[in-house]
Amino acid sequence: MCGIAGYTGEARALPVILESLYRLEYRGYDSAGIAVEEEGEFFLKKVKGKISRLEDALMETMVHGTSGIGHTRWATHGEPSKANAHPHFSEDKSLMLVHNGIIENHEQLRQKLTTNPEFKSQTDTEVLVHRLAENYEGDLTEALRLTLQEVEGSYAVAAMHLNEPGKLVAARSGSPLIIGCSGDGNYIASDLPALLDFTREVIFLDEDEIATLTPDEITVQTIQGEKRKKSINSISWDAVQAQKGGYKHFMLKEIAEQPQVLRQAMQGRVDGSRVVFPNLELDEEVLKNLKKLTLIACGTSHHACMVARYWLEEMTDLHVEVDIGSEYRYRSLNYDAGTEMLIAVSQSGETADTLAAMRKVSAQGVPVLTICNVLGSTMAREADDVIYTHAGPEIGVASTKSFTTQLLVLFLFSYFLGRLRGSYGEQPDLLEKLIELPDQVDSLIRDRSLYKKIAREQFKKEDFLFLGRHLNYPIAMEGALKLKEISYIHAEGYPAGEMKHGPIALIDEEIPVVVLGPTSRVYSKMLSNVEEVKARGGIVFGVSMVDDRSGLAEVCDYQIAIPQTAELLTPFLTTPPMQILSYELAVRRGCDVDQPRNLAKSVTVE
Ligand code: AGP
Repeated sequence: MCGIAGYTGEARALPVILESLYRLEYRGYDSAGIAVEEEGEFFLKKVKGKISRLEDALMETMVHGTSGIGHTRWATHGEPSKANAHPHFSEDKSLMLVHNGIIENHEQLRQKLTTNPEFKSQTDTEVLVHRLAENYEGDLTEALRLTLQEVEGSYAVAAMHLNEPGKLVAARSGSPLIIGCSGDGNYIASDLPALLDFTREVIFLDEDEIATLTPDEITVQTIQGEKRKKSINSISWDAVQAQKGGYKHFMLKEIAEQPQVLRQAMQGRVDGSRVVFPNLELDEEVLKNLKKLTLIACGTSHHACMVARYWLEEMTDLHVEVDIGSEYRYRSLNYDAGTEMLIAVSQSGETADTLAAMRKVSAQGVPVLTICNVLGSTMAREADDVIYTHAGPEIGVASTKSFTTQLLVLFLFSYFLGRLRGSYGEQPDLLEKLIELPDQVDSLIRDRSLYKKIAREQFKKEDFLFLGRHLNYPIAMEGALKLKEISYIHAEGYPAGEMKHGPIALIDEEIPVVVLGPTSRVYSKMLSNVEEVKARGGIVFGVSMVDDRSGLAEVCDYQIAIPQTAELLTPFLTTPPMQILSYELAVRRGCDVDQPRNLAKSVTVE
């Protein structure tokens, strides 16, 4: 989704803001713009398309100003165009504003305008800037505070006024915004990667807070005018982690990082035959008294929850429910706060639908645990407790390492809960096999030649089918999601047992079928499903264990071999082949792997 960057300090603002915008590219956008205060007026440049176009348009521009704001826009109201790109400005161009999110009552705000400004865009944001100009009486913070009291919707905004040089005012409600602090000045950004080149000292703005930044001071208050004392957090991620480091794409780098991040996510949590979460503060009694556990997430994170349901059902006596954030938030449900808990799973910790579902449940007094990757994200701060996945910055829009680390945390949590409740015995062998996973994943991703060959042969296909059962049914869905989002090939992930109920009608020699068939309780059922596909002329790519001698590998046209592991751990090893296969097909089709069309990394609007 849209990205905001801002700087006020001693350095030239233009290169700082441009660099920050590049670091926000991964969020997805279709136009970009920048405004810098320069000798009593604003220098403004906007383009439709990539930030590199903005940079080209700025070539040989000598702007020395030391404060400014920038934006990457992901179109909601109005098409992607230069006119609709941010910053937007007041009639006299004394006020500049950038905005993420949606102003739901923009029409009412337009009616409220007492002046008659000429609108230059189709955006909801432009109404906000004109209303802000009307409320301005010499203090931008106060004007923004009053204006935001009139606004309904979700937003993060940043604004500047020529009458107050060097001052940036920023606020958030429903969209993320963080403040960076350093000896050279202060920064605003939508996400951490935009700041890592400049500072690791950050302030997380909370909902409905407004920050006022000058080169050497940051003050925060609420939209209601209550002063806030904020703490400065030191972030351990570094800028190098958020760069490609010699890889062609972030996605490829992030696939390759999985062994290392899986080790990281295990560290301090596996102790012999015990699983511990040293920082978990949830009362053990709450966990022991549970009867029902609900897991909520969107997209790839939802697939991780689907896998976790099988683990939780195997290791605990709980009733487990899994739902998608956008569906769950509108369901009519009764809660029992004493015996229920919600787990919200998210890479970003900012996904609007997951957040809304989490708030709905929290309002009923039900404890909420979040499993997320981004430190200090909204979910991490609003939940009763958080378990971090420690995947490091994930920049590619397609979730890869965040998914496998979510799986890891969910597996460990299921085991932990099973032991705590006495419903699962100690399984030292299982945990030993878990510890082997990073090396096994490493062996899986080192050689991509088979995937390249498949991509060469299949890249013109327009439909793929992914089949799995039990623990690997969600992985089939994840394989299909990965493929469609980055290669634009239509793909469906199906529980193999459902084939006969409809999808088998699709099978012919034109539709490649990827079958997830590691050795498991459903292996023979998968084998029958493969036979059915083969009998109808389908081309089958079978993911099965390296010593698979019971038939599946032979029946398939291609075997993608994975190492031997325990049945419960197979999703960790069937996932990387899905990621690499999608990656190679997308590359072969010439797609923009890291920033697929129409997609945003962090979906902060409904
Ligand atoms: C998957 O590759 C996508 N990036 C998307 O489905 C993503 O998983 C979803 O938007 C949820 O994001 P979150 O984990 O940050 O909440």
